[in-house]
Amino acid sequence: MRLDKFLAHMGFGTRREVKELIKSKAIQVNDVVVKDSSLHVKETEDVVTVYGDIVHYKEFIYLMMNKPPGVVSATEDSRDQTVIDLLDDDVRHFDVYPIGRLDKDTVGLLLLTNDGALTHRLLSPNKDVPKVYFAKIDGVVVDSDIEAFSNGVILDDGYHTKPGILTILSSGPVSEIELSITEGKFHQVKRMFESVGKTVVYLKRLSMGALKLDESLAEGSYRELTEEEWDKIQMKK
Ligand code: URA
Repeated sequence: MRLDKFLAHMGFGTRREVKELIKSKAIQVNDVVVKDSSLHVKETEDVVTVYGDIVHYKEFIYLMMNKPPGVVSATEDSRDQTVIDLLDDDVRHFDVYPIGRLDKDTVGLLLLTNDGALTHRLLSPNKDVPKVYFAKIDGVVVDSDIEAFSNGVILDDGYHTKPGILTILSSGPVSEIELSITEGKFHQVKRMFESVGKTVVYLKRLSMGALKLDESLAEGSYRELTEEEWDKIQMKK
């Protein structure tokens, strides 16, 4: 990879800014000061330093965010704040995007990455990755809803969903539930409850496959996945 591309990817500015760094003799490759930004480096073998600090190359980045309400899970939006707007500069240059979508008012687990292959694996319909949601429902959720969801329900557009596993945590005028589904149709949880005459008033995603939301992350904050978490979402089988 060209040195200027390598450094731009690792967050040292635009190619033009990187050129300036090179001009000011801030960059060394294998202990030799670099004069030419078109120099090629082997990302994982050559030792690149900026003002003496080694730059450890990383191609992909994996972030877990606790999505707050009122923010859209898109990379750009003309009206609303996006989850990308919540990222600091030190990760933004990796060009991450959310894996799948949560509605503007939905909170909880959202993964962001620039790894297209992983995105594909996690979203592939035949992988049946379970997603677990906690929800508050305006209406009394009853055992027959569990039964209905376990057979799949018919949504407003006639689509017959795959089975969902519904757990009632409390049942009353406002009920609390957990629902595990393997699909991600538009507004799926909300529409599944509509199909049994009830309204979702609060929705939070708790997990995706074996990866659970870190509840110590405040809404709107994020962190890189740990290695253990990264292993859990690979879905290579
Ligand atoms: N189902 C919904 O209705 N909304 C979400 O954001 C996610 C799942």
